[in-house]
Formats: sequence, C-alpha cells, structure tokens
Amino acid sequence: MQQTLSFRFLPLFLSTQASSNAMSAPTANLLASVFDAGATPIGELVQKFNFSRVDVQDASKNDYLVVHLAPSYGAEGHVSKASLSKLDDNVKIMITGTLKTLSKVDPSERSYDSVLGSLTNNPLLETVASSEVIKRADKILKDDTHFMKVDWKVPDASAIAKVQEWLNTVIDDKETVVASGISGKVLKDIVALSSTFIKETSIFEGLSEVIEIPVKKEKLEKTILDITFLRFPTQKTPVFKLNHIILREWTQYEKIALLEKQTTGITCDYVSREFKPRAATLNALKTETREGAIKQAEELFV
Ligand SMILES: *[C@@H]1O[C@H](CO)[C@@H](O)[C@H](O)[C@H]1NC(C)=O
Repeated sequence: MQQTLSFRFLPLFLSTQASSNAMSAPTANLLASVFDAGATPIGELVQKFNFSRVDVQDASKNDYLVVHLAPSYGAEGHVSKASLSKLDDNVKIMITGTLKTLSKVDPSERSYDSVLGSLTNNPLLETVASSEVIKRADKILKDDTHFMKVDWKVPDASAIAKVQEWLNTVIDDKETVVASGISGKVLKDIVALSSTFIKETSIFEGLSEVIEIPVKKEKLEKTILDITFLRFPTQKTPVFKLNHIILREWTQYEKIALLEKQTTGITCDYVSREFKPRAATLNALKTETREGAIKQAEELFV
C-alpha cells in the first residue's frame, strides 16, 4: 500500500521544471539552484575565505564563513562526465532525483536540517544504516597563567599540526576532512585568530572590588565557520554524504585575587549522514523516466 502511495509522487521528484529542451544546458542551472556557488566544491570556498577578517572579540558580527550547501566530490576532489557515466544507473537516477528535490528548497531555507529533511523524505534514496555521526569536541589551544599582564605568541607549526590531528580524530573520515578544505593555511589562520583574543590590558583592570570578589570569570565565544556540504556518489563509494561542520573559538578569563588566567580553545561540532539508492523504488520506475534521469545525471558536469 505504501509503495502505491509513494509512486504517485515520484514524478515530483524527477520532473523537469521547464519543458524538456535537454540541449539548452538545464543541468548547470540545476547545480546553481541547489548549491550556494553552483558546482564549486566546499574545499575551494573554504580555502578562498579570508579568516583574518573574523573579529573574534565581537560575537554579534556575521563576519565568519557560512556555506548553506556546497558539493564535494569524493577522493578525487572533482567529478567529470566520464566518471559520472561509470556509475550504476540507479545511482545516476538518485543523483538527478536528489538534485531536483533540493532545487525546490528556497535558498533562504537552505541548511543542514532542511537538506536532511529533503533527503530523508525522498523515496528514491534511503539512509545507510548506522551512518549517523554526531560529535562535539573541544581542543584547548592555550592554557596559561599570568600575573596581570598577558603575553602570548602566535601558535607555531607543531601547535597547528596538533589541531589538525584533533580535527581528523573528531571527523574520523580522511576524505571528508580533505574535502572540507580545513587544513594548511586555513587551519593556521583559524588557530592564529586565537591570539586576537588577547587584550592589551587586563580585562578586569579598574575593578576595585578585587578583594571583595576574589574570583571573577568571563567567557567569550565566536563562530569561525559553519559549513554544510553534500558529497556526490562515486564509483567506489556510491553514496551521498551530508556533512555539517561548525568551528567556534572561545576564551575564558579567570581572576583569582591578583592572579589572572586565560584559557582559549576551539570547539568542533560535526554531524553527518549517508544515503544510498532505494533499489525497490528505482527499479519500479518507468523505463522512459529512468532514461531521462540517467541522461540528465550524465550531463550535469562537462
Ligand atoms: C584579509 O583580511 C585582513 C583583515 O581585514 C586584511 O588585512 C587582509 O589584507 C586580507 N587579506 C587578503 C588576502 O585579502
């Protein structure tokens, strides 16, 4: 009974918006209507963002990197007409059906949750069992105790390598870490931001009640990056993987009598879910519907 119901809606997931003038490059438009920057992969968007412009001391400024949805293309980092044509027909149909559904999500509504909802409700695909990953982890960048005056240096290469190691552990999927573009100069710039939390003078300066209130605390937190990206299926791993990464930096000042302590860290929130073709639904599609969707998938990329 359920099958009959979902079949009735299938045309919605595969229909072309304009009439089927397949030659007038509708495919580029499809990518443009699904992703923030069309076919541009997430790694490129992250690498070209200037993280030095993020003002970590002002949490109210929306000066950090937000990508509501971008693609990523597996271990090779890119996808071509040739590599797409090698995929199983059902995977190609899943690609076309998924993009068409996502193209109906308004850009202002684009987010990990809305994309997840769209993928979960799409009868052409199903969640890969136990593919849900939800992680949150902190890394202390600096934990120093100072007497009144803070004097920090910009973190060195070994500190950055340790942060990369930590990020690799949190995400626990090399391909996803590489695809995200959060490495090398990006990571260096993000870690270096922590030094801009340093204040020239004590933030508690002028407090006359030091003696009466011996312990004083203040915590600042700033989002640095908030990215959602959808990994395209490849021949080796024919699944869509939806990823959401948020990086935040924070600092906490403590003052106990005259002793001042500042701890600075970075927090990573990571969520992901994988989807594969739902064979029963895909195999039951009409031949011409299948052929149209296969053709469109093959023409997505030049
Ligand atoms: C990045 O932003 C900082 C701060 O706004 C600026 O000084 C610097 O020139 C920018 N770098 C690039 C490559 O645009």
